[in-house]
Amino acid sequence: MSFITSLTRAWFTRSTRPFEFKNEYDERLPFADCDNLGLYVHIPFCRSICDFCPYCKEVYSEDKCNRYIDALIREIHMVGGQGNDKKTVTSLYFGGGTPALAADRIGEVIEALEQHFVITEGIGVELHPDNVTPDILQKIKDAGVTKISIGVQSFYNKYQNILGRKCVDVMQIKRALEQVEFETVSMDLIFALPSQTFEDLKNDIDTAFSSGANHVAIYPFIDFTFTSSTVPVMPKKDKKALLDAITKYCAEQGYARDSIWTFSRENGARYSSMTGDNFLGFGCSATTLLRHQFKINTFSVEEYCARIDGGKLPTSLTVRFTARQRMVYWLFWTAYSTRVREADFERFFGVSLRRKYGFELTLARLLGYVKYRDGEYTMTPRGAFYYHYYENFYTLAYIDKMWGIMRKEAFPEGIKL
Ligand SMILES: C[S@@+](CC[C@H](N)C(=O)[O-])C[C@H]1O[C@@H](n2cnc3c(N)ncnc32)[C@H](O)[C@@H]1O
Ligand code: SF4
Repeated sequence: MSFITSLTRAWFTRSTRPFEFKNEYDERLPFADCDNLGLYVHIPFCRSICDFCPYCKEVYSEDKCNRYIDALIREIHMVGGQGNDKKTVTSLYFGGGTPALAADRIGEVIEALEQHFVITEGIGVELHPDNVTPDILQKIKDAGVTKISIGVQSFYNKYQNILGRKCVDVMQIKRALEQVEFETVSMDLIFALPSQTFEDLKNDIDTAFSSGANHVAIYPFIDFTFTSSTVPVMPKKDKKALLDAITKYCAEQGYARDSIWTFSRENGARYSSMTGDNFLGFGCSATTLLRHQFKINTFSVEEYCARIDGGKLPTSLTVRFTARQRMVYWLFWTAYSTRVREADFERFFGVSLRRKYGFELTLARLLGYVKYRDGEYTMTPRGAFYYHYYENFYTLAYIDKMWGIMRKEAFPEGIKL
């Protein structure tokens, strides 16, 4: 597996040099001159822990959460205060964990960020289905939240049982969403669960849209090696057939595909925490991507708070990109939106996309993976499947390895990927 990702990395970066994550960081982050900058805040607490979940989280306690939010606000001021003027950013996303558990303090975190940044494309928060009550929805709406994403996974009890989660009360969700409205209401569904059929998924998508969602994220189930999941993995052939059938169904219904995994029913409904060319991440495990570097905060809540108490940034590892590495990173994440515009690449790198990757793009066109029109490459359904497939390799070769280490060591010596 890592052979495939290493080979592709070497091909696209024109070098055998790996991505080298070092145990070092800059106290001052050069974000002032980054355009198209997004913000991300991680809240690592959940009421109970799901075996299959890879994210950085621990069991919620009010004391621990309050101490963490105090530290988070200090990190925001430490980083945000480095700029002279308020910096205009795209969106702000709260992820987790279950950020809605901190609903009482989300307003404070937003206020801290708004002292340093002007947010122009809205604020999103992830919710567990249990959090979808009029009281919590109103609280976060009053704090300035405009988009929500609900971790439904499936409306079928049998799949919730397979995942070891509680069944979802669809009527409770529907009623709460009727009382408190948001610009975007997204629901997460998981596909490629054992014996899951197209009918099951189609019904899940229909139920999501009839219960208040205007956007759905349909994630393939990923079996991370460091989790204690016992959910069997669906064979590739069945997965492809299922993905093709859902994509076709969503296209027939007129749902717009706004990224590899997401479909929206209304213009303007968007939920993607993978925002922009650059982003600043705050909190445990949060990542920051800037023009020449990528950094990742420690996964340990204790060590995170201790670093902040000591007046230092909680960064665990930093990668300093070569020019080609940054191009590959940019292309990989931009392709996630299923389109790559030549002008965007040229604006970011000051060199034409064709000059750098003309051969690869011609090959992708000949293989039927992309179509080209008016300066834009759009992924075909075939291309989207293979991106999906490759992304699975990437997740297992890079993210699985990295998160596996970061969960055990707060500040590892270094990692080469
Ligand atoms: C942070 S959770 C969402 C909010 C809340 N914690 C919850 O679970 O409802 C983010 C989403 O990641 C997805 N996810 C978690 N583990 C996954 C896995 N192993 N494979 C695919 N998707 C996964 C789920 O769809 C989940 O809703
Ligand atoms: S899936 Fe959601 S609720 Fe479950 S452990 Fe992960 S973040 Fe927490």
